[in-house]
Amino acid sequence: MRKKITIVGSGNVGATAAHWMASKELGDVVLIDIIPGVPQGKGLDLLEAMPIEKRDSFVLGTEDYKDTANSDIVVITAGIPRKPGMSRDDLLNTNYKIMQDVVGKVVSNSPNCILIIVSNPLDAMAQAAYKISGFSRNRVIGMAGVLDSARFRAFIAMELGVSVENVTAFVLGGHGDTMVPLPRYSTVAGVPITELMEKSTIERLVQRTRDGGAEIVKYLKTGSAYYAPSAAVTEMVEAIIKDKKKILPCAAYLEGEYGIHGLFVGVPCKLGARGIEDVWEIRLTDEEMAALKKSADSVKELVSVVGV
Ligand SMILES: NC(=O)c1ccc[n+]([C@@H]2O[C@H](COP(=O)([O-])OP(=O)(O)OC[C@H]3O[C@@H](n4cnc5c(N)ncnc54)[C@H](O)[C@@H]3O)[C@@H](O)[C@H]2O)c1
Repeated sequence: MRKKITIVGSGNVGATAAHWMASKELGDVVLIDIIPGVPQGKGLDLLEAMPIEKRDSFVLGTEDYKDTANSDIVVITAGIPRKPGMSRDDLLNTNYKIMQDVVGKVVSNSPNCILIIVSNPLDAMAQAAYKISGFSRNRVIGMAGVLDSARFRAFIAMELGVSVENVTAFVLGGHGDTMVPLPRYSTVAGVPITELMEKSTIERLVQRTRDGGAEIVKYLKTGSAYYAPSAAVTEMVEAIIKDKKKILPCAAYLEGEYGIHGLFVGVPCKLGARGIEDVWEIRLTDEEMAALKKSADSVKELVSVVGV
């Protein structure tokens, strides 16, 4: 049987994620939203592309959670995106209410699914979904690090004029201004970028990565990035569906790893059929550890506002 992937929220990120997933034939895709007709229209449109793409992914758009029943993976993108001048944290109260509405319905229809949260502010929304769902921590995962690392990789490849395929990068911490790009663990063909670029160049790319979301919001004005975010969540879905045991930076609920307790923070995780199968504790310098703790503290502040 093909796997079933539900995407809650059929806006920019949700619909584009459905596009990537269906065109990679990862499974059947259900798009759900509260705007009447939108998920149905986008779902049908995408379904009609499958003969051209030669992909047997069934795509269904709906407003009814019954159609999402027994999903293997549910990706939550429902919520408002930011506008110029807004931080991700400004979305907290609105998106928390949406999360309260959505997670219960998802869980009662798909009690065995793996949840991947995309809505912002990411780490706090993942924490809310974890608490509302009552799922074990391996089944609630936040998407941020794959996107932030992809941005860093794109900037490194452009700077050095090399293939993006040669570039790996790690960005840890919360998905916000305090995210922690790790140049020591970012490489080109296995060579750390600290050997290839001046410190000032690396700092410029790190800052552009931190501001990567805002840079796009500034251009778009009415919404935020969605091609790279939807590609990022698709990579996570693929790792789980194909049981790839892939090491990806994800927001995970930490229970003592990196000295952090009871909080979602971005760390390297092994993704496979059971969701987060392992959290990798890589060695950090004192400076990197301090940056990760600072990032965790800002997540803590947010989750305390909504009491999760
Ligand atoms: N984690 C990340 O790295 C990352 C990256 C990009 C965007 N985001 C976040 O993802 C979210 C979606 O972004 P977008 O650009 O797709 O926004 P969008 O406005 O294009 O789409 C959001 C959709 O959610 C729907 N929605 C609202 N309430 C709902 C509910 N209760 N049930 C079902 N659907 C509901 C809306 O109708 C809309 O269609 C935002 O919060 C954004 O900040 C996160």
